[in-house]
Amino acid sequence: MLVVSGSSCRYLAVNVSRLINAPLIPSECKVFPDGEIYVRIDGDVSGKPVAVFQSFALNPNDYLVEFILLTDLVRDLGASKIIAVIPYFAYARQDDRFKPGEALSIKTIASIFKSLNIASIVTVDMHLHRVSNPSELFKIPVYNLSAMELLIDYVMNVFKPESPIVIGPDEESKQWAEIAARRVNIDYDVLEKIRYDSHRVAIKPRGLNIHGRDVIVVDDIISTGGTMAEAVKALRSYGARRVITACTHPILTGQALSKILEAGAEAIVGTDTVPSPVSYVSVKTVIAEFLSRCMI
Ligand code: R5P
Repeated sequence: MLVVSGSSCRYLAVNVSRLINAPLIPSECKVFPDGEIYVRIDGDVSGKPVAVFQSFALNPNDYLVEFILLTDLVRDLGASKIIAVIPYFAYARQDDRFKPGEALSIKTIASIFKSLNIASIVTVDMHLHRVSNPSELFKIPVYNLSAMELLIDYVMNVFKPESPIVIGPDEESKQWAEIAARRVNIDYDVLEKIRYDSHRVAIKPRGLNIHGRDVIVVDDIISTGGTMAEAVKALRSYGARRVITACTHPILTGQALSKILEAGAEAIVGTDTVPSPVSYVSVKTVIAEFLSRCMI
């Protein structure tokens, strides 16, 4: 297998390629003065399976076009099979028509992927709320790996929480809270969230027994930080002793970090699906283990 990376996650792609002993084909991605994207690879991919890495975070639209160009290029140059490795998969949140006339973005992206002749997609903690089986939607196998075990291991080792409990900030985060809690054999629960718009959320009061306990809040994404900050405030008001927050994709737009810390969190821990100042945990091992199995 060969590895080709777009510009969003080169560091992660290099680390994975080393772990699985797969040569990394150098790639160049640049933007012309008018905003058009240019890509080039420097190596022979003909007859070989190629894993194309790109994380659709921070600059998702440009990264998406870069990915489309790279993938089509690799196919055009004769790759035998293309595996798309998308550590953060943007556009998955618009998976329904919440208001009449809205685009079903995830469905459109699925059609684009289908047209690129990709054999399978590997991603991490995809935002799957209403889509229960992404393989059905994309019409190719989608392998949704999780970083939750890595995150909880890191938090337990570094922060050594006492009488710990895992909390998800909303009903939809139950899937991630459950994985984290099961890994270290502790309790978990979720809060109830009301979202007003993309910046404003409220957490509904709930009778949780967390007085004097150390709470680890886990979620897939921290974007504006609104959800995490409100969750931290609520947990502190219910008597949590320490609150440590963790997420797979630290997108962290605007003042997200300070918002969460000012709300009373002791720490924010994320992974390198999105490069950020809190990407303490690397998903390289979960991706490498998966790709190694594909190579057998
Ligand atoms: C929503 O359902 C997600 O799981 C996250 O809770 C949400 O995307 C976080 O966004 P923000 O940080 O902007 O509140």
